[in-house]
Amino acid sequence: MRIKRYSTPKELSHAGAALFCERVTEEKPFSVALSGGSTPKALYYLLSSSVYRDKIDWSQIDFFWGDERGVPPEHYDSNFRMANEVMLSALPVPENRIHRFEAEKPDLNNVVSEYESNLVTILGDPPIIDLVLLGMGSDGHTASLFPHSPALEEKNRWVTINPHGQLGGHRYTLTYPTLNQAKEVVFLVSGKAKANALQKVLEGEKNPKELPAQGITGNILWMIDEDAASKLENGGEFIQ
Ligand code: 6PG
Repeated sequence: MRIKRYSTPKELSHAGAALFCERVTEEKPFSVALSGGSTPKALYYLLSSSVYRDKIDWSQIDFFWGDERGVPPEHYDSNFRMANEVMLSALPVPENRIHRFEAEKPDLNNVVSEYESNLVTILGDPPIIDLVLLGMGSDGHTASLFPHSPALEEKNRWVTINPHGQLGGHRYTLTYPTLNQAKEVVFLVSGKAKANALQKVLEGEKNPKELPAQGITGNILWMIDEDAASKLENGGEFIQ
């Protein structure tokens, strides 16, 4: 596990965009699982900006989502809507390379099985994603793997449904088996509100049921800003 620390959220987003540009040139086609949330959103803006967009061959990237809310694609809360509005719709990404959860469908189990078969059809079985972008909540959740939630126990399926305890409603999420077989996972964590959770996740007692981000294993890079790192004993490598 590697930790890279940046002074500000802006520098963190630029570093994330530079990493994305570097990774997608390494292999074609390239698969990415996008995260929801405000931290990755800043990165998506940058990637679709003139600073980065022309550095990337967008036709060779398969876009998946690490999780999705149980809402239609046009809904304000949709992770697809956010990434599409902020990034994908502004870029020459072929329609058949955008693989969203069809969360508008009424049969929740059908949404899961369709997404699973999509993953396997495109990536093989088991589905190995090249780059998974994840955020982390101030309760230590990641994707839609919430503390003490049923999805944490899923060891066989690649995708599952998870209730969102606090907000109600349901989410779709990649499971630990899928996330932990990815070639690389990059966490993007910014802000003081995450400092306590980040310290517990990185330096505290191992308790993934309480802190689901701890359940992510494998080739992990934590990209964090100073505010999020402010409670860490070891804040990793500081990048000027
Ligand atoms: C989502 C994300 C979720 C998010 C964290 C952090 O669907 O919202 O999958 O796990 O990454 O809640 O969100 P922020 O980056 O907005 O703090």
